[in-house]
Amino acid sequence: MPRHLITSALPYANGPIHFGHVAGAYLPADVYARYLRLTGEEVLYVCGTDEHGVAITLKAEQEGLGYREYVDRWHDEIKGLFDRFQISFDHWSGTARCSQHAEASRRFFRILLDRGYIFDRTEDQWFSSTLDRFLPDRYLQGTCPACGFDQARGDECPQCGSWIEARELKNPICTLDGSTPELRATKHWYIDLPKLQKEGLQAWYASEDSSRPHGPWKPNVDGYVQAMLRDLHARPITRDLPWGIPVPEELEGSEGKVLYVWFDAPIGYVSATMEWAEQKGTPEAWSEWWQDENTQLTHFIGKDNIAFHVVVFPSMLLGLGNAWENKRFQLPHNVPANEFYNLQGRKFNTTAGWYLDNEHFFSQYSADAARFYLLNSLPETSDSEFSWEGFQIANNALLADKLGNFASRVLKFNAKRFGSLVPESDGSLDTDTDLQTADSRLAAIGTHIAAFEFRKAVAAMMDGCDALNQFFDAHAPWKLIKSSDQVNQARCRAVLERCLAYLELISRRMSPLCPAAADRLQQMLGDAAGPTTWGNETANQPPARLTAGTALGEADVLFKKIDDDTIAAEIARLEDIVA
Ligand code: MF3
Ligand code: ZN
Repeated sequence: MPRHLITSALPYANGPIHFGHVAGAYLPADVYARYLRLTGEEVLYVCGTDEHGVAITLKAEQEGLGYREYVDRWHDEIKGLFDRFQISFDHWSGTARCSQHAEASRRFFRILLDRGYIFDRTEDQWFSSTLDRFLPDRYLQGTCPACGFDQARGDECPQCGSWIEARELKNPICTLDGSTPELRATKHWYIDLPKLQKEGLQAWYASEDSSRPHGPWKPNVDGYVQAMLRDLHARPITRDLPWGIPVPEELEGSEGKVLYVWFDAPIGYVSATMEWAEQKGTPEAWSEWWQDENTQLTHFIGKDNIAFHVVVFPSMLLGLGNAWENKRFQLPHNVPANEFYNLQGRKFNTTAGWYLDNEHFFSQYSADAARFYLLNSLPETSDSEFSWEGFQIANNALLADKLGNFASRVLKFNAKRFGSLVPESDGSLDTDTDLQTADSRLAAIGTHIAAFEFRKAVAAMMDGCDALNQFFDAHAPWKLIKSSDQVNQARCRAVLERCLAYLELISRRMSPLCPAAADRLQQMLGDAAGPTTWGNETANQPPARLTAGTALGEADVLFKKIDDDTIAAEIARLEDIVA
């Protein structure tokens, strides 16, 4: 059995995250992790905040806060939304707080340097003599060398969109104090991606290296990466910043330089695993998760992170060779990147108020309803969006009318007629043909989750509920019970016995998708523990945990409906904020 190491992109500790992020990289990973745990596989799901980089230093400076103080605030705030969504990380860390992170990052750097995959180069860069520091691109503003727009940033021009080499910016000024910088020679380090491509990355990516298998790439991932691999360049991996992981100090010219945030951030997955292992009292155990062929590494990300997870980070891992304790690192087994998730026809924009307020949302609606709707509308193959109308339909017409309805009619009927005890079946029902569709659709949930097809998993769940509602309708137990014929009475008990067994199966199958509702359903079925195993995947025909005479719990509403006025008010509320 493989061991599953699951990661979600480390969110920048630089502002609130929103439902779009959750849909892209966290909820799918959580469903995958929960599913694998239920099937009895070994799972480690790690995440944390990405706490370095120019975007963070700039914002902290603008707000007059210390860097650490600034990232600490967002670190906790961000975790709050994940908790609301019941994202089940096994370890939550952060690149500026994880005690192993700096050393691990420098070790990556030193090994890659020793092995000839990092080189240095001395070039002119803007320097502020008033501040006595070099200015990274985003600290500069000036005239675009391409179109002449006079408010271009040091990294790109908002007018013509061209990518700017900061050195070529005309009439630059420093965004911190408005002073005019001068060019000074300074040394930076580069990762030699073209060399790594030749020496392993290309072969691995194209599956020519059978010692490093990976799953089929999603088409959206493959298209992007193929284009990138046709024209790969060395990239600078150091910056002049007062915040970050210092470049190893034994290197000449390292003073004042830190590792580029995109170099140290993915190493955060490794250092978070080290921290997890240490906190468990088995510090060496991290290596089983990274350097053992039995590990399957899966990175969940949004599409803007593809280059770093499919090209840059794997190159770094490959480039280590076996220089780290004589063991090779595993490369990702898959990177099921999602497209973007919008809100009601526009991009999420927390600064402009175009987002869903967490406090308000979760005071009105359940995590299960939110998870269900997001999963049902995930941007798996193209951009998609959260719309309040869509949320209402998913909640009312799918969750409540299909799943909730099946649960409530079965449990209520059973409470009324059989005193909440599981009735005895005489085995006279031909459930093989009657319940074939329910069997195959409920079995498909796991297959789809394992293949990262979460929308299909949700659809399979709903089809399974449709089939079960039809089974209930076709047998009309409310008529059978009133019949004076003993055969019909027995048939009624047999129907209910099966419905309850399937309800129990549903509680397990829905558990990765809607974990809290799954627990509640198990309670209604008399088991306080909640679903703990997935059960047999191929032959559903659910075995009766609920044997005849078992006492069930109290039936309750599984999913509340949302009325039209509430939805209209939500839309108005959103539009008011931006108006
Ligand atoms: N912070 C980045 C973002 O939000 C993601 C970093 S993923 C990691 O886009 F691999 F670098 F950690
Ligand atoms: Zn321009």
